[in-house]
Amino acid sequence: MNNPNVRPDTMLRITNKELADKFIEEQVAAVRAQVGDKKVLLALSGGVDSSVVAALLIKAIGKQLICVHVNHGLMRKGESEQVIEIFGKSLDANLVYVDATDRFLDLLAGVSDPESKRKIIGKEFIEVFADEARKLEGVEFLAQGTIYPDILESVKQAEGKKAVKSHHNVGGLPDDLKFELVEPVKLLFKDEVRVVGEALGLPHGMVYRQPFPGPGLGVRCLGAITRDRLHALREADAILREEFANNGLAEKVWQYFVVIPDIKSVGVKDDSRYEGWPAIIRAVNTKDAMTATIEEIPYAVLHKICARITSEVEGINRVLYDITPKPTGTIEWE
Ligand code: XMP
Repeated sequence: MNNPNVRPDTMLRITNKELADKFIEEQVAAVRAQVGDKKVLLALSGGVDSSVVAALLIKAIGKQLICVHVNHGLMRKGESEQVIEIFGKSLDANLVYVDATDRFLDLLAGVSDPESKRKIIGKEFIEVFADEARKLEGVEFLAQGTIYPDILESVKQAEGKKAVKSHHNVGGLPDDLKFELVEPVKLLFKDEVRVVGEALGLPHGMVYRQPFPGPGLGVRCLGAITRDRLHALREADAILREEFANNGLAEKVWQYFVVIPDIKSVGVKDDSRYEGWPAIIRAVNTKDAMTATIEEIPYAVLHKICARITSEVEGINRVLYDITPKPTGTIEWE
């Protein structure tokens, strides 16, 4: 028998709407056959993979799918709102929205070690999700946005290859929560998931969203996270994204974001001394995130971003541009 976790050689690469529609039709039938009239739970982050799985399952089983969106307080500006708008309103999904900001930020207060931060965020995410799962009755299935590179990566890890960072997504749930997995896109590569997402009618911006780490802004607010610095980071990042979109860079650059270190420098504003944090801009291109090169951002765009961030964001008095490729820098700073 075929191994269900191995992509068959005969499987066509999904490159257009016609192939995507065929895939969707097959998966809708497969999901219906697998779950019958039972309920399915999904952690919906708003990232490409979980969003596509949500849209696919809504098509297949409607309100039998319960989407749980955990806002860990480390989302980018407008992201949770977009999940509520698209899934809660437009697609009329069964959506549970959990604002767990205080739970996460209280636990992270004073924690500066990057790996400890990642572990806290990963563990707490599972706990919040598990708390929600326990409140629901009659759920037998858990849907996941596992894609083929995730499977290939776990094979590599099982072979003992060392990871640079403990990347987290939804890890294992506690023992009292036992579900059968529903993983409709597990044999697809990212570009195929996107084609399927567009065929399902998800907005282009959501389907082509740049990668965003599981720990979110938590690994971009360097060192011990404080609410004021996190707020400044979110606002500065939103300005960067807006300017990249306005200047045709959003489609050209693979990943771009702001990082704010836990240091202050002296500056001047309105003729007075103004101590503030620097906002560091990172914009990289890569194929597989294993190595990355730096995108050349036109100076005029950098000037505009600098002017906007320093005038619009409270607490920031400088803007720096990180020109380090990977290696030696990793893409994220933590
Ligand atoms: P690094 O910083 O290791 O990042 O060069 C490579 C890519 O992975 C993303 N990244 C994560 N993705 N969970 C994720 O799902 C994580 O914990 C995580 N950490 C880093 C990073 O944004 C980049 O695209």
